[in-house]
Amino acid sequence: MEGAYDDRDGKIWLDGKLVDWRAAKVHILTHALHYASSVFEGERCYGGKIFLGHEHSKRLRFSASELDFEIPYTAEDIDAAKDAVLQANGFTDAYVRAVAWRGAGQEMGVASSRNPVHLAVAAWEWGNYYGDAKLKGAKLDIARWKRPSPETAPVHAKAAGLYMICTMSKHEAEARGCSDALFMDHRGYVAEATGANIFFVKDGEVHTPLADCFLNGLTRQTVIKLLTEKGIAVHERHIMPEELDGFEQCWLTGTAAEVTPVGQIRDYRFEVGALTLDIMDTYEKLVRS
Ligand SMILES: Cc1ncc(COP(=O)(O)O)c(C=O)c1O
Repeated sequence: MEGAYDDRDGKIWLDGKLVDWRAAKVHILTHALHYASSVFEGERCYGGKIFLGHEHSKRLRFSASELDFEIPYTAEDIDAAKDAVLQANGFTDAYVRAVAWRGAGQEMGVASSRNPVHLAVAAWEWGNYYGDAKLKGAKLDIARWKRPSPETAPVHAKAAGLYMICTMSKHEAEARGCSDALFMDHRGYVAEATGANIFFVKDGEVHTPLADCFLNGLTRQTVIKLLTEKGIAVHERHIMPEELDGFEQCWLTGTAAEVTPVGQIRDYRFEVGALTLDIMDTYEKLVRS
């Protein structure tokens, strides 16, 4: 068993250099620590190749621009940093975390345009995000928090601040014996889980919430493409919570979650059915191809 995440052997890429894992530190007056001026990516490397690595690098830069800062590295530089980290740690199958943030600098108020922007990349070996749910189906709670309106927060960015309610909701879900929580959005429509998008199956067709106020995951987009290629109709639309009653199958998608079946959301039950197993398998083959 590995130790705490700040107490491991290995290398982390920090602002252009590979540094010893335990030396990758920030100052207590880092702007991001106080005001959430931070964006990040979660990626998976399979057999030495990061799945959609360049798309993740571009999304990191996009997320920063949504928070009004620019990462002083191109997407190609970020790709190279990730490769360097994987190589330095000898990983071929790993989770990769890139993070960019406003550091400590001239300003310590809310405004921080004069503070430097930093970038770091770390990687570690990480198995199934939902434990044995891939076989049995995850059990989800329903969060009491709502995904905010695009007028309230930069909802399409992968921004640290948007995860405040994710952590709180996941803690509450775990306290109730669930693996995760499903969010409704600010209008009451079904949205997503705390770190993954959601899909449902009914009568051989797939339904997934329209990504108009939450992260349009790269895994979500990949799975929609795979289903479409199989000739399966995918409806991206607003889904009312009452509709959970009529869906037969359900799964989550995300870089960490991959494709994970859902067996239960509160009292609604779903079977780990043929289409769920098929899309899990197709996704698994694609990421390793
Ligand atoms: C809140 C949230 N929604 C959706 C996703 C899925 O995104 P992706 O498939 O790009 O990993 C993630 C994971 O990154 C997430 O944290």
